[in-house]
Amino acid sequence: MRVVILPTELEASNFAGQFIADYINDNNNPVIGLATGGSVLLTYDALISSHKEGKLSFSKTVTFNLDEYIGLEPNHNQSYRQYMKKKLFDHIDIDQNKTFIPECFDNNFDLACSHYENEIKKHGGIGLQLLGIGSNGHIGFNEPTSSLQSRTRVKTLTKNTLSKNARFFESHENQPSLAITMGIGTIMEAKNILLLGLGKHKSKAVADVIEGPLSAYCPGSVLQNHQNATIVLDQHAASDLKLYDYYIQTEKMKSKYNC
Ligand code: F6R
Repeated sequence: MRVVILPTELEASNFAGQFIADYINDNNNPVIGLATGGSVLLTYDALISSHKEGKLSFSKTVTFNLDEYIGLEPNHNQSYRQYMKKKLFDHIDIDQNKTFIPECFDNNFDLACSHYENEIKKHGGIGLQLLGIGSNGHIGFNEPTSSLQSRTRVKTLTKNTLSKNARFFESHENQPSLAITMGIGTIMEAKNILLLGLGKHKSKAVADVIEGPLSAYCPGSVLQNHQNATIVLDQHAASDLKLYDYYIQTEKMKSKYNC
């Protein structure tokens, strides 16, 4: 696990943006897994800037989002399809037919989930998966005690997640309590993983992910078992790490010896 700690949210997000841009530029048919929520917004801004500066094209990129609420049509203002359009897709040169987000129109959830898994396979698997982290340790919408082998399926959101995400909904809007999410097993098959943790309110979850026991109670801790996982943090999110100085030193050595 590589742990990169940077002073500010902006620097951490710019690092994540550059990491994704490098992956896209270095691969002929990049398949990127995307997340929604607050943590990834500055990263998407960085990708949009790189595109506008002519340094990055998404014309060959295929994307798979982690999750989508059940009960919201894709054109609903609060759907993750609309989030992705507003925050990224409408500002870059991606073919939106190549952007996949779990969808279920007719309540045939099993079919929708297996279809999503098949689409990922058909595209050769996810090359780089971007993740945020829930303050309860969830990745995607894999809430605590999710099976570490789980595949794409329907999950019930915890009270914690519902209350944290309530900020995105107007008081008159109905906030769904179910979502389709890639499973932890699905996420772990990505060839590379980039998890972004920002802010003091994430510091405990971040410490559990990196230094805690591997446990379904903190789903993100499964990344300890991934061979190419990079965790990018601002200093507040990193503030509960016991080996804080070690991670800083390791990155210094990495750039000094280019290894
Ligand atoms: C969103 C997702 C979630 C978020 C997590 C953190 O697609 O999969 O796991 O990454 O809930 O959300 P924020 O960034 O809003 O704190």
